[in-house]
This record gives sequence, C-alpha cells and structure tokens, in this order.
Amino acid sequence: MSASPSGPDRSAIVTRLRAAGCVFAEDEARMLISTARTPAGLAAMVDQRAAGQPLEHVLGWAEFCGLRIAVEPGVFIPRRRTEFLVRQAAALARQAGAQQAGAWQRVVLVDLCCGSGAVGAALAPALGRVELHAVDIDPAAVRCARRNVAAAGGRVYQGDLYEPLPAGLRGRIGILAANVPYVPTGEVGLLPPEARIHEPMVALDGGGDGLDVLRRVTAAAPLWLAPGGHLLTETSERQAPRAAEAVASGGLVPRVVHSGELNATVVIGTRPGGQTSAPACNSVPY
Ligand SMILES: C[S@@+](CC[C@H](N)C(=O)[O-])C[C@H]1O[C@@H](n2cnc3c(N)ncnc32)[C@H](O)[C@@H]1O
Repeated sequence: MSASPSGPDRSAIVTRLRAAGCVFAEDEARMLISTARTPAGLAAMVDQRAAGQPLEHVLGWAEFCGLRIAVEPGVFIPRRRTEFLVRQAAALARQAGAQQAGAWQRVVLVDLCCGSGAVGAALAPALGRVELHAVDIDPAAVRCARRNVAAAGGRVYQGDLYEPLPAGLRGRIGILAANVPYVPTGEVGLLPPEARIHEPMVALDGGGDGLDVLRRVTAAAPLWLAPGGHLLTETSERQAPRAAEAVASGGLVPRVVHSGELNATVVIGTRPGGQTSAPACNSVPY
C-alpha cells in the first residue's frame, strides 16, 4: 500500500524537497509516496528528508544490484560503486566453478564488515549453491543484515572481523568480500553531511591512512581462505597501491581492478595454491 497523494500534494512535496536542497526532488517524491503507508507516514518521511536524513534511511531501503536492501537509520548505506566488487566476485566464483570439471561446487562466501549485508545478499543468488556467512561489529548493522541475507539462508554474526566465525571455516573460504572502512581519519570531516552525520564512524574511519582495518583483514586472510580463494576489498584509486601492498604482505597475490563508469577500485588478493587463475583482462566492463 502507498499513500498516493494526487497532483497538488505531490507537487508540494517536490517543492519542499527542492527547497531543502534535494537535487532529485521529483524522483525522491515518487519513492517516498510509493513507500509511505499512510498520509501521516508520508508527511513524517518528507519532514525527515527535508531535515537532511539520507533518503535510504527515510525509506528504510536502498537499491543495490537490483535488490531492495533494508537499511535502518545509523547503518551504512550500500553504495552503487560497490556493485563493482560484487561483479568481480561473481566472475571469480564462476571461473572457479568452470574449472571444477563443469561441476558447480558449493561456494563458501564470507561477507566481512557486512553492514546491511548488501554484498552477501547480492552475491549469493549470483553464485548459485552458496554457504554464506556475514560479520559486523555494529549491532544495528547485524540486525539489518539478518533481514537481508535471510533469503540466501545466510548466517550473521556480531563481532570483530574473523573472531565470531566458526573455526570450521578456516582454509575453506572461496570468496572473502571485505568492504572495510577506508576513509583516512583526517578526511572523514570532508565527507558529505549525509555520511558524516548519519552513518556511524566505525563504518567510515579507516585510521591514519585509511588502511588500518584492511591490514588486520589481510594479515589473517591466508588462514581463512581456501587455496585459490579470493579476498576482495574496495578502496580508492589513490589508496590502491598501498592497499595492494597490504594484501601482498599478508601472503596473497594482489591485483587491482577499476571501473571508470562506477568510479570504483577493488583490490583482489588470491591465496596461492589453487586451480583458479586471474581473469585475462584487468578491468571487467560493468
Ligand atoms: C564501509 S561499511 C561497508 C558495509 C557493507 N559491506 C557495504 O558494502 O555496504 C564498513 C562496515 O564495517 C563494519 N566494521 C568496522 N570495523 C569492524 C570490525 N572490526 N569488525 C567487523 N565489522 C567492522 C562497520 O560497522 C560497517 O558496517
């Protein structure tokens, strides 16, 4: 059900959103109207949006890889550019499957620093037979992730990086997706207010050079990855060389892929010893 206001109400909403600085006021009004369940609910949502809350927190969902991902206030909103990481991971998993004499194995997929669980929720259906585990340190994120990965039968744990994962996953993970916080501490203040004010610092601040959490992830990754398994982590183009160094120092073979269209950079680290190999080209068109 939606609140469905007719002409004047709709245009009043658009005018209000535009006055509040919403560049895509028409689109936002349409989404708010179709999501609100009552006129009073719609009025409250318009107030929240006009007061500067991120659209996705007001709606209660974000679009990611064609899915509606539940996001409650205070939880990191999945970014469109992260769809590039999902595509890369899906391509690697398919390639590994193709090398198993045509037989699709059950892929062990871990979404570390999962936030809303968007990456795991989008990847799982793309991989077919999958065993999905997701971890986040933030209880609100864990609550959202549980809703979002339920369809894939995923399990979500609250805790610090690998700490809450079952020990039986050691040496078995085929795809380790880790979209960790990577904004350098000194640059957090430069983020747009919607991120700086409405998303938790633990989701954004990656320490002095932005790579503190990544270094902890890469140090333990070889212990958890299967031979030939892949770690995928998003970074900025500027940070990519140092992120690749961090991946290599953990004992993985790094490579960097970039999508100009999505302005997205992903570092892939592969544990040596498996049958899998890197794709022939270094940038997969999106
Ligand atoms: C940049 S957000 C990415 C969220 C999600 N993967 C996505 O792409 O939408 C980083 C996430 O890492 C989580 N996080 C930060 N430090 C963590 C830690 N030590 N252990 C587990 N999760 C952590 C934050 O709570 C946040 O949800």
